[in-house]
Amino acid sequence: MRIDSIKFAEHFADAPDGESLAALDLTRIPSHVSCIMDGNGRWAIARGLSRAEGHKAGIVALREIITTCVRLGVDVLSAYAFSTENWTRPQHEVNLLMHLFAKTFIDELPLLRREDVRVVFLGDISALPRKTREVFEFGLRECENHRGMILALAVNYGGRAEITRAARLIAQQVAAGQLALSDVDERTLSDRLYTVDLPDPELVIRTSGEFRVSNYLLWQIAYAEFYVTDTCWPDFDRWGLLEAILSYQGRERRFGGVGAGARS
Ligand code: IPE
Ligand code: IPE
Ligand code: MG
Repeated sequence: MRIDSIKFAEHFADAPDGESLAALDLTRIPSHVSCIMDGNGRWAIARGLSRAEGHKAGIVALREIITTCVRLGVDVLSAYAFSTENWTRPQHEVNLLMHLFAKTFIDELPLLRREDVRVVFLGDISALPRKTREVFEFGLRECENHRGMILALAVNYGGRAEITRAARLIAQQVAAGQLALSDVDERTLSDRLYTVDLPDPELVIRTSGEFRVSNYLLWQIAYAEFYVTDTCWPDFDRWGLLEAILSYQGRERRFGGVGAGARS
């Protein structure tokens, strides 16, 4: 996506060190950046705050990352907000998160409008509490005509549930004679995932130092580059994202082939 050079310069004006910014290759910004937003609870506990305060601080961080991705010309930013396993958390935390998601979507509509960001959800939002679901449906309609960056929010999302759902859809179509078994290929499956029409993430960032995938985009991350930072999500900011993208730009992506250095 096109970069607005004035807004870009403004956004990164107070760089703590100019070198990182100078080293950034603007022609090689990942098209799809994905964040596993982890560590809200630990961030809060370390400060003597409640986990709820951690989740609120996490939303502030997401706002900064959304704007930063727009400034960098990222096409798709996806963010893991609530997994199919997160329902096992204490009921009051689940309730708080559902409330925060709805409130935030409404509060941030002006930002989404100003930055021309279109929201899509990954996951089964039909199973969310009624109020949250209705706000999501309203918000989706409010920004459906936006044509800038896509913000894909994974809510009630699980990679295994997503693949199972796709397999069931395919089986139904085969059973109904609408799809030939011999026509089922990788594309058939990826077209039935929540991420249909989105490119696979090139860069997956996980905050709070955890080296695991936690059931996130299992199909789509086949060749994603991983970046793990010890920073907890509420402290992850534009400079942290810059470091992640610089790390990505230093990688050699091989896709199972031989490296450029090995070619003769
Ligand atoms: C991530 O932070 C946010 C959600 C999963 C909703 P956590 O709540 O997992 O924070 P930690 O991992 O307990 O620190
Ligand atoms: C992953 O974080 C899910 C989200 C960020 C929404 P978790 O905190 O739920 O993952 P685990 O339990 O540490 O694997
Ligand atoms: Mg966690």
